[in-house]
Amino acid sequence: MAQTVSGAAVKKTSKIWFDGGFVPWDEAKVHVMSSGLHYGFGVYEGIRAYEGADGRSAVFRLREHVRRFVDSTNILLLELPYSREQLFECCLETLRVNGMKSAYLRPLAFMGEGGMGLDAINPVRVAIMAWEWGNYLGEEGARRGIRAKVSSFTRMHVNSSAVRGKITGQYVNSALAKREAKLAGYDEAILLDSNGWVSEASCENLFLVRDSVIYTPPLSSPILEGITRNSVLRILRDAGHEVRETPFTRDTMYLADELFLCGTAAEVTPVREVDDRRIGSGAVGPLTRMVQERYLRATRGEEPKYKEWLTCF
Ligand SMILES: Cc1ncc(COP(=O)(O)O)c(C=O)c1O
Repeated sequence: MAQTVSGAAVKKTSKIWFDGGFVPWDEAKVHVMSSGLHYGFGVYEGIRAYEGADGRSAVFRLREHVRRFVDSTNILLLELPYSREQLFECCLETLRVNGMKSAYLRPLAFMGEGGMGLDAINPVRVAIMAWEWGNYLGEEGARRGIRAKVSSFTRMHVNSSAVRGKITGQYVNSALAKREAKLAGYDEAILLDSNGWVSEASCENLFLVRDSVIYTPPLSSPILEGITRNSVLRILRDAGHEVRETPFTRDTMYLADELFLCGTAAEVTPVREVDDRRIGSGAVGPLTRMVQERYLRATRGEEPKYKEWLTCF
């Protein structure tokens, strides 16, 4: 079958931090016997750095991302050879070494080579990459909203893996859903959990608005505990809005006045259609617009209240 799905092209940067030092982009290679490659035994993060209106650059919520990275390795019993503080510094240094003002940062830890088999315990390798990456769902999607489809793939059960971890192997579930949606002509997939409740999109958390009340799936459901989700909750509650973290059904989305996705890569992206049903008027709603604007302003240091979320470099 002809494949029509295509990810975003990545423009190489100069250096990648790999196992304790910087190497040229093309030399950051791994051996095919790395067990992380065979069994998906690894963890990663997606972090963004932004250039502010004043020309200063900062990483958004770096502390929380590094914490989740280390937590994910703990969930997998991966022995990380670096401390949280060291990883925090290495993320900043990767941006400096590559002379970047804004970037997408990707720390990755995985089990390297040595023994083979599901019970192998090999040295853990760590890399930090940075490249320029626009909105994951496209600038047009961010402006006008995207079209989403409920996936035929179910978001994994809370007990079939470890949903609090950002574990590489778990992304087969997300990738199957994403590819299915793209091949069917949609922009993104929304996955239901094994009880039939809406969980999240393939790589973003989800919020909806109905009759001025905002709903998002709770952390007791099999969702990643998104750092953007946390930022959005704070922005909404600070603005005096009620948010209910509660399960809801697929058709609740069809009846929503507004729906949006949020994640580091996709930032805040409105959804204008789910399963071919128009959401609200089909135009981006006022609450979505407000959250999107405040979020983007916060990332660029233009919301004094949220300055604590930024680490300048
Ligand atoms: C499955 C999944 N859900 C939600 C998110 C959003 O998380 P965050 O806001 O921390 O980027 C991501 C992105 O990392 C993800 O992969």
